[in-house]
Amino acid sequence: MIPLALYVHIPWCIRKCPYCDFNSHTAAELPEQAYIQALLTDLASELPYIWGRKLESIFIGGGTPSLFSAAGIDELLCGIRALLPFRPNIEITLEANPRTFEQAKFKGFREAGINRLSMGLQSFNPQHLQALGRVHNQAEALMAADIARHAGFTNFNLDLMFGLPQQTLSQALADLQQAIQLQPTHLSWYQLTLEPNTLFYKQPPVLPDEDLLVDMQLVGQALLAQHGYQQYEVSAYSQPQYQCVHNRNYWEFGDYIGIGAGAHGKYTNPADQSIHRYQKPRQPADYMQRVQQGQARSQTTTLVTADIIFEFMLNALRLQSGFPLSLFTERTGLALELLSNGLQQGMQRGLLELDGSWLKPSPLGWQFLNTTIQLFLPD
Ligand SMILES: C[S@@+](CC[C@H](N)C(=O)[O-])C[C@H]1O[C@@H](n2cnc3c(N)ncnc32)[C@H](O)[C@@H]1O
Ligand code: SF4
Repeated sequence: MIPLALYVHIPWCIRKCPYCDFNSHTAAELPEQAYIQALLTDLASELPYIWGRKLESIFIGGGTPSLFSAAGIDELLCGIRALLPFRPNIEITLEANPRTFEQAKFKGFREAGINRLSMGLQSFNPQHLQALGRVHNQAEALMAADIARHAGFTNFNLDLMFGLPQQTLSQALADLQQAIQLQPTHLSWYQLTLEPNTLFYKQPPVLPDEDLLVDMQLVGQALLAQHGYQQYEVSAYSQPQYQCVHNRNYWEFGDYIGIGAGAHGKYTNPADQSIHRYQKPRQPADYMQRVQQGQARSQTTTLVTADIIFEFMLNALRLQSGFPLSLFTERTGLALELLSNGLQQGMQRGLLELDGSWLKPSPLGWQFLNTTIQLFLPD
């Protein structure tokens, strides 16, 4: 049986960050109750497609889900539990922003069943926090770990970014060092990218040049490894046993239900192994209205073979350890021979290597990951 995860999107933030193209909106007042009801109605409408399966993980992301009350998150998780069985020790993550930290609220999230927090810090440097338009300050970022631990969370991730406006190598490393001192179980360390439809795209700040970015990445990776944070994906580092179950499921081409404004889902029909993707309407008001009308999905597509091959490789090659070749057939229902051309070319060009029955990018293939993935582009 293909593993199944649930993604829940909460599309509101205190203020829109100038670099962010996630589906997040500002609102004077959050329609928390109405939205939770819409999420549960949306989930109920997805049940026929995933009948008889258990959830491996839940990720409540955004936006800033920690803007919701603990009672609201409790109601949401109780509602989900009533609709779908959970596997034992299910991972349930909530994304949080330091400005929304409030001790009692975080205890409430823990009591509601959240067992992993993902906190968006981005940087500890006051100048960079300001340049990124963040609503939290350095002191709040430094308190993140304490608040999580006091609330009973032993498993938490910190999001950091590098390649920030006018950032030097030593500033990028200082951010990492500070994060390591907080001893998170997981670190997501993203290179800042200029995304279309953001303020930074229209008015680009001065960013570090390519050489400096490569230095930041290499020195940063070494620092993280030295402190026991093993890189297992392009931007993901963890202590042993703390890789993110939910994100691994995306990279291993598992199935996932997506509920909430703009959420994506993917599911495999067990009858014929066909694979389908869908999306929910992006605007929160439109989404809630569509759910009420019983039409939560705005778009559904059935993947053709060439797309399945490319999408599988696009995800699986992001894993530094690669994947057992048998996973391809397990997750796609397709014959391994369909990969032959790309595999042959990749080995000849030194971009891919086989380690027993595992396929992974070589060090060169890892350095030029886009080129490696393009080996599997449809003709
Ligand atoms: C949806 S945000 C969730 C966290 C929360 N909303 C916050 O920002 O505190 C997920 C993460 O993506 C990263 N991110 C967002 N925009 C990015 C960009 N343009 N380039 C690189 N990373 C980005 C940030 O590290 C952010 O914490
Ligand atoms: S708080 Fe997070 S989701 Fe919201 S605008 Fe900023 S980066 Fe995007």
